[in-house]
Amino acid sequence: MTMTHVQLRQLFQKFWQERGHREVPTIPLVPQNDPTTLFTGSGMQQLVPYLLGEPHPLGKKLYNIQPCFRAQDIEEVGDNRHTTFFEMMGNWSLGTYFKKDQLTWFWQFLTEELKLPKEKLYISVFAGTKEISEDKESYEIWKSLGVPEKHIFKYGPDKNWWSRAGEPQNMPAGEPGGPDSEVFYEFTQVEHDKKFGEKCHPNCDCGRFLEIGNSVFMEYKKNPDGTFSPLPNKNVDFGGGLERLLAAANDEPDIFKTDVFSDIVKIIERWSGKHYEGENIRSIRVIADHIKASTFIILSGVRPSNKGQGYVLRRLLRRAAIKMHKLNGRLTPHEFANIADEGVLKTYENVYSDHQNTRETVMFVIEDELNKFEKTLDRALREFQKIDKINGKIAFDFYQSYGLPVEIMHELATEKGQVINLKEFLEAFHKHRELSRTASAGMFKGGLADQSEQTIKYHTATHLINQVLFDVLGNEVRQEGSNITGERLRFDYYSPVKPTPEQIKQVETIVNEKIKQALPVEFKIMPKAEADKLGAKSFFREKYPEMVKVYFIGIYSKEFCGGPHVKNTSEIGKISIFKSEKVGSNLYRLYAK
Ligand code: ALA
Repeated sequence: MTMTHVQLRQLFQKFWQERGHREVPTIPLVPQNDPTTLFTGSGMQQLVPYLLGEPHPLGKKLYNIQPCFRAQDIEEVGDNRHTTFFEMMGNWSLGTYFKKDQLTWFWQFLTEELKLPKEKLYISVFAGTKEISEDKESYEIWKSLGVPEKHIFKYGPDKNWWSRAGEPQNMPAGEPGGPDSEVFYEFTQVEHDKKFGEKCHPNCDCGRFLEIGNSVFMEYKKNPDGTFSPLPNKNVDFGGGLERLLAAANDEPDIFKTDVFSDIVKIIERWSGKHYEGENIRSIRVIADHIKASTFIILSGVRPSNKGQGYVLRRLLRRAAIKMHKLNGRLTPHEFANIADEGVLKTYENVYSDHQNTRETVMFVIEDELNKFEKTLDRALREFQKIDKINGKIAFDFYQSYGLPVEIMHELATEKGQVINLKEFLEAFHKHRELSRTASAGMFKGGLADQSEQTIKYHTATHLINQVLFDVLGNEVRQEGSNITGERLRFDYYSPVKPTPEQIKQVETIVNEKIKQALPVEFKIMPKAEADKLGAKSFFREKYPEMVKVYFIGIYSKEFCGGPHVKNTSEIGKISIFKSEKVGSNLYRLYAK
């Protein structure tokens, strides 16, 4: 019998509730007050302060199903299992249970709730490094659960270590991480492809094995000198892709055939007139993934632009349009928007019911962006026609500046009796790709700020700035976001009137006065209703649980926040606002250090 995504969600929720876990509300795909990343890429992201030792208002046992987006995976999309957007099923222990309960429970979930055959499950554990010892305990636990030794594999930190920045050497100071243990499902119907190596094994990329869950034993924090110290608590951070668990539960190696994708694929088939088979498969997967991811990104409030999240959205929509072009000529922007509407929004209508209210926005943003892209393409085609002698480098420039697909240029060039030198084109392409890879790696990894002393000071300073702006510019002012690195803080806010330079100076002066007053910084955990009554500042786009954590700076500022913060404002030192600008309609940004 087929398992639907809705049934899988229910099983997961019930399973953790029965084991004393509370559901943490999900955070938006674009985190509102997280200085560390562009997108929410894992369920643990909102839990970082708690993994580092702060108490969580909902207690020590938590779970949720978090929508995630990983831009790093964009090039991988097209195989049977990679997507940029996915939902992560997560459970956490904040210093309560550890390896034994976690592995036993997850095993029960897989074999008793999802009824996966034990012989199709494989395990990996951490093999250790010079500094950090091998995870023998997990190995023994798996054995005691009945997993045969030949199904347990040991890998080094490249595979069995987890932190948001990847391997230990890439972690910024203050970042939590730890060894992990993964479970893989074997699709015995998939033949091993020797292109990926002589012999197949759980971490092989041929598609026979699928990683379906990862239990991270989050017990270390990186020190500024590169060494590791134990965290105050031994935590569990578990994450498993809902799409992958669903594929395993249905013994279906292609996640695009499960019901989180099947209707989207059907609509693409309908509009393109092409079946999901043979050489069409990869293109249809890319279109399905990108339209789904774009829909969720738009729903988080992002609009296409040339920067940050807006740029990622633009790139996804354009890539989808180009793939469709390859598949079967152009689709009208309206037809594209229909894939989001009848495919994506319908698939998730019982899960994210609030999406229905924003249906028209999603359709409008997609149509508008693709209309613009069509115009750009037309202009590019006209320019292209004017060129007498087309070489690979010129073709690449067109591809790069306008997104003009090489197949189209090829057809044009052929009309003129010319050939595009593909080798030249590819050389230019690869050179560019290396450069942009480095740039985007910087953007996604470098975007990950540390939890160093300086960033914590800046974090407390943003709370002060938030309150002072409100006092100086008026009570309609509200924070829209912030971004903190070790070098500076950035603060975005809404204001109906443009701040004058004098007002910005005044903000700076008051913030420094508050710092000098040496106000204590403390938090209280309280019911949300009480915090609202106190007038604590919150993010209107964020959902909060019934118990919340509120940070107080003396009696001057109160904000919903996970922390961490300095203990006293005097620790912050002097702050100077070195830039103030307008970044959108009624949206302003300031930088301070
Ligand atoms: N945070 C862990 C992951 O993303 C569970 O794999």
